[in-house]
Amino acid sequence: MELINASTRYCAVLGHPVRHSASPAMQNAALKELNLPWCYLALEVHPQDLRAAIAGAKAMKLIGLNLTVPHKTAALEMVDVVHEKARRSGAVNTIVFETPSLGGDWVPLGQVAVEDVGPIRSHGYNTDAQGLARSLEEDFQWPDLRGASVLLLGAGGAARAAALQLAEEGIDSLFLVNRTGAKAEQLAAELRGGFPKIHIITRLPHDPVDLVINATSVGLKASDPPPLAEEWLESRRPRRVYDVIYRPAETRLLRAAKKAGCQTANGLGLLLYQGAAALELWSGRAAPVAVMRAALQKDIYG
Ligand code: ATR
Repeated sequence: MELINASTRYCAVLGHPVRHSASPAMQNAALKELNLPWCYLALEVHPQDLRAAIAGAKAMKLIGLNLTVPHKTAALEMVDVVHEKARRSGAVNTIVFETPSLGGDWVPLGQVAVEDVGPIRSHGYNTDAQGLARSLEEDFQWPDLRGASVLLLGAGGAARAAALQLAEEGIDSLFLVNRTGAKAEQLAAELRGGFPKIHIITRLPHDPVDLVINATSVGLKASDPPPLAEEWLESRRPRRVYDVIYRPAETRLLRAAKKAGCQTANGLGLLLYQGAAALELWSGRAAPVAVMRAALQKDIYG
């Protein structure tokens, strides 16, 4: 706190609720490591105030914002410019405030002195999919998903971002399963339109798949049932099981998957790499990933 003075600049995550967010611990550790005189805040914003909050952040020349539950979809309509990946995912998790440079290009505020800031626009990005890709690559030492078969659980915002990333990486088949079947069917129809070569099937696979991803919120509470039956895991034994949930560190799904002999990983890597990508957009500098990971682990697992 003693580091805050009149020159300090700010980024923030907006959420409702936001108190659970590990992003301030991760991002402030990174800012310190990079020697940037910025501070990253967590701000509780009710959905009905989101538009005003984004406008206020712009007026106060914040460097950027992250958006968490439940703001990612609504923010799509509230930014001045939407990056292609965010548009396709239907969600914005990162906003970069930009101003014209002397040459006329829009540059991030974080890369311009405050006195040089002119008109500002908000640019909406989605770094979640990129975060998932880097996490899969690192956690499973699996750099190339081409030709893979994947079972994706869920059809909400997280699942949509994951499905698009997997499709862009050239997987061969995608099994989509969701509690509300109609939402899985709708996502499947959209994906078939954009990626006609990928086999998209809205049921559980009969054969072992290369990867299962849980992109539902089932597992956040200790009392939640696993989103996939243990017998299914035992009998179909997928090679890898990824849970986007990172708290608790081992969900019932991951415990059962480990027991069934699958490689497993939780969503900490996704959280880390989506944050690293946001910081890189704001600052134009390489994110100090090791420092960020250590800060996240300490904040979440103690
Ligand atoms: P997010 O942006 O985190 O993906 P979301 O869009 O609300 O959040 O999506 C939550 C996902 O978890 C959905 O796929 C949801 O299923 P429905 O589409 O049927 O609502 C799934 N989900 C949430 N609670 C669930 C439960 N108790 N059992 C099964 N699926 C559940």
